[in-house]
Amino acid sequence: MSADGTRAPPHRETARVFFALWPPKEIARQLAGIAADFSQAAGGRPTRCETIHLTLAFLGDIAVERLPELHRLAGEIQAARFELTLDRFGVWQHNRLLWAGCASQPLFELATNLKTRLLEAGFTVADAKRPFAPHVTLVRKVSKLETPLPIPVSLSWRCEDFVLVRSRLSAEGSAYGVLAHFHLAV
Ligand code: 2AM
Repeated sequence: MSADGTRAPPHRETARVFFALWPPKEIARQLAGIAADFSQAAGGRPTRCETIHLTLAFLGDIAVERLPELHRLAGEIQAARFELTLDRFGVWQHNRLLWAGCASQPLFELATNLKTRLLEAGFTVADAKRPFAPHVTLVRKVSKLETPLPIPVSLSWRCEDFVLVRSRLSAEGSAYGVLAHFHLAV
């Protein structure tokens, strides 16, 4: 009971969640190497190998009671497997972030399909009004923005599923836990 005699609202547990593609270990290892080398020259915080991913849709905090609905919705997404090739690097000046990116139509379709379903179901999706900007964050808080970009390489993997991830913020940065895998059709 609160001081004025009204009942306090029940505590609602929330989960910070997003959908992502998770690269195979070998690709993540190569990306982590590129991130480490770049941050040596340019400053900033390289992404740890085990957390390297490509976000499809970031929802932020949702009530944990809605997690089953999220699982159901993602399980109903119809999309084919595809080959994803990261073949470009860039630095965003506004948030001082080094990223690896790609141009992939099947990826765009998967992300758009997922976003549409999430919005229809009443979930909030970050940057929903902006076009999807596929990227893998490699270094945050780059201090020397003029540093030459990493030498272009082509890193490919076959995307056979996407994942629902819970993010917990801690002193070491974000700790991610994969809650579920959703298989793409053959
Ligand atoms: P970023 O790497 O460009 O910051 C988990 O935080 C993932 O969700 C990251 O890949 C992050 O992208 C992405 N994301 C998208 N919108 C976000 C937001 N508003 N807040 C935090 N993360 C966001």
